[in-house]
Amino acid sequence: MKLTGNTILITGGTSGIGKGFAQHFLGLGNTVIICGRRKDRLEQLKARNPGLATFQCDLTDAASRENLVRHVIQECPDLNILINNAGIQLTADLAKPVDLAAVEQEIATNLIAPLHLSSLLVEQLRARPEPCIVNISSGLAYTPLAFMPVYCATKAAVHSWSLSLRKQLEKTGIAVYEIAPPSVDTELGHERREDKSQTHGGMPVNEFISEALKALENNVLQAAIGPAASMMDQRDALFERLNSHL
Ligand SMILES: NC(=O)c1ccc[n+]([C@@H]2O[C@H](COP(=O)([O-])OP(=O)(O)OC[C@H]3O[C@@H](n4cnc5c(N)ncnc54)[C@H](OP(=O)(O)O)[C@@H]3O)[C@@H](O)[C@H]2O)c1
Repeated sequence: MKLTGNTILITGGTSGIGKGFAQHFLGLGNTVIICGRRKDRLEQLKARNPGLATFQCDLTDAASRENLVRHVIQECPDLNILINNAGIQLTADLAKPVDLAAVEQEIATNLIAPLHLSSLLVEQLRARPEPCIVNISSGLAYTPLAFMPVYCATKAAVHSWSLSLRKQLEKTGIAVYEIAPPSVDTELGHERREDKSQTHGGMPVNEFISEALKALENNVLQAAIGPAASMMDQRDALFERLNSHL
């Protein structure tokens, strides 16, 4: 994938990995549009990053996704790359009746939204030069952490869907990439933390982004970054080790 001269829509650009990608891609000479729910963050980022376009939307809502697509095609007709990045991470105790609204929100954000959005944008992307869809999965797609079972299942599904999407879109010329991050130091999971500003540690965002960009530039269609690589390669032994305390 070429890293310059693209027009890129990044979902979930108000923090963490999406914000990191947005800033790096802007710096590399791309046109970038980000979306997210937090209007204050979008306004702040637009003011601090000249050239950045923003759109507020809640990706769990189908009408909002359709609205986003209409807006982007109208405002950025050269759009040739979609990065499906937005995600949330919740815990669930499967030994009790689950909070169904939370389960539905997690599945809608992490799986339904990227799947729907990608399908809505195929016609737009295939008409542009060097079109790509980049899906952000997780090392946890390959080796789940049992206390966040729905999250891990959505990421395993993103991996599976990425394989099918790549196959189905072969004839359209749209390249489908999957990037599986390891633990990266972002706000992910802050919904379930008492101190919302506390992060969960992991690889610094900039380090992760430069590894991910290297993989994209080298056309690695399925790239597990840093420790996520062993989660992909040694999944069964790691599952036992990661979950031995349960
Ligand atoms: N950090 C890690 O350790 C890690 C590891 C593996 C995979 N990942 C994946 O990397 C991706 C980015 O996560 P991150 O770590 O950067 O987390 P983050 O800092 O919490 O960022 C998540 C982004 O998603 C957006 N988002 C969430 N729900 C949304 C919705 N309903 N509509 C629109 N936007 C929504 C958030 O924006 P608003 O809140 O403003 O809506 C935010 O910009 C996720 O798919 C995550 O699963 C992260």
